[in-house]
Amino acid sequence: MSGTLVVEEAADRVVVTLRRPEARNAINAAMVRELHEVCAVLEEQPRLLLITGDGGTFAAGADIGELRERGRDQALQGINSRLFDRIARLPLPTVAAVDGYALGGGAELTYACDIRIASPAAVFGNPEPGLGILAAAGATWRLRELVGASVAKQVLLAGRRLDAEEAHRLGLVAEVVPAGELLKRAHSLLDRMARSGPLALRLTKLVADAPGAHPLTDDLAQAILFESDDKRARMDAFLSGGR
Ligand code: COA
Repeated sequence: MSGTLVVEEAADRVVVTLRRPEARNAINAAMVRELHEVCAVLEEQPRLLLITGDGGTFAAGADIGELRERGRDQALQGINSRLFDRIARLPLPTVAAVDGYALGGGAELTYACDIRIASPAAVFGNPEPGLGILAAAGATWRLRELVGASVAKQVLLAGRRLDAEEAHRLGLVAEVVPAGELLKRAHSLLDRMARSGPLALRLTKLVADAPGAHPLTDDLAQAILFESDDKRARMDAFLSGGR
C-alpha cells in the first residue's frame, strides 16, 4: 500500500484502489505520482488492471485545493491528461469498477479505461466549467467517442450527470451490478480476459486504438499472432476437443 492507493498485485492482474477518504478520493499530485508508478510496473510486466475507489466513491475529481493553485505552466504540463493517456496506452486491458461519484478527473480516469462496470450508485459527470475550467484530461474527446457528441455535450456543457442506468443504456458502462458484487463481477470480467492469449489481447488493444491505419495494422498484428506458439496450442486444443 502506498499513500493514496491500495495496490494488490497478482500474476495476471493488478488491482488499484483509490483511497483518500478525507477528499472523496480526489486525485492529487501524490495520487498522480503513484498511478504513474503503477503504469511503470505494468509497462515492464504487462498485466490486466482493475481500478476502483474506496468507501463508496470512485473519485470526486482532481483535487480542487491543488487545482486552485495551478497556473498556465502546470496546465501545459498536462498533469492529469498525460497520466490518463499513459493508462489508456497500457499494454493489456483496463477495467474501472465504479461505485458512487466519478466526477471531473475521476470520470476522465474511467473514460481512459477500456471497460467500465458500475454499481447502481455510480454517477458520471464533468462539472469543470462550474469551477471556471475545462475538462482537459480526455472528457472533450474520449467521452464523445464513448457516448456520442450529443450526450457528451450535455455532460460537458450543461452539467448533465449520468447515473448508472443512463450510463448503461448509453454503453458507457458494460453492466450495473449491486455494490456488494461489483468487485466480484469485475474480477470475473478480468478472468474471462485472462483466458485469452496475452499477446493476442495486447495486439487487439493496440490495433483497436490505432489511429486510422486499418487494415494495415490489423494485418501486421495478425501476421505476428499467426506465427505464435500460443495460437497453435490454443487451436490444437480446440480441434482436439479439449475445450
Ligand atoms: N477536491 C478536493 N476535495 C474534495 C473534492 C475534490 N474534488 N471533492 C470532495 N472533496 C472533499 C470536500 O471538500 C470535503 O472535505 P471536508 O470534509 O474537509 O469539508 C470532503 O471531500 C467530503 O466532501 P463533501 O462535499 O462533504 O461530500 P458529499 O458526499 O456531500 O458530496 C461530492 C460528494 C462528490 C458530490 C462533492 O464532494 C463534490 O461535488 N465534489 C467536487 C466535485 C467536482 O467538482 N469535481 C471536479 C473537480 S475538477
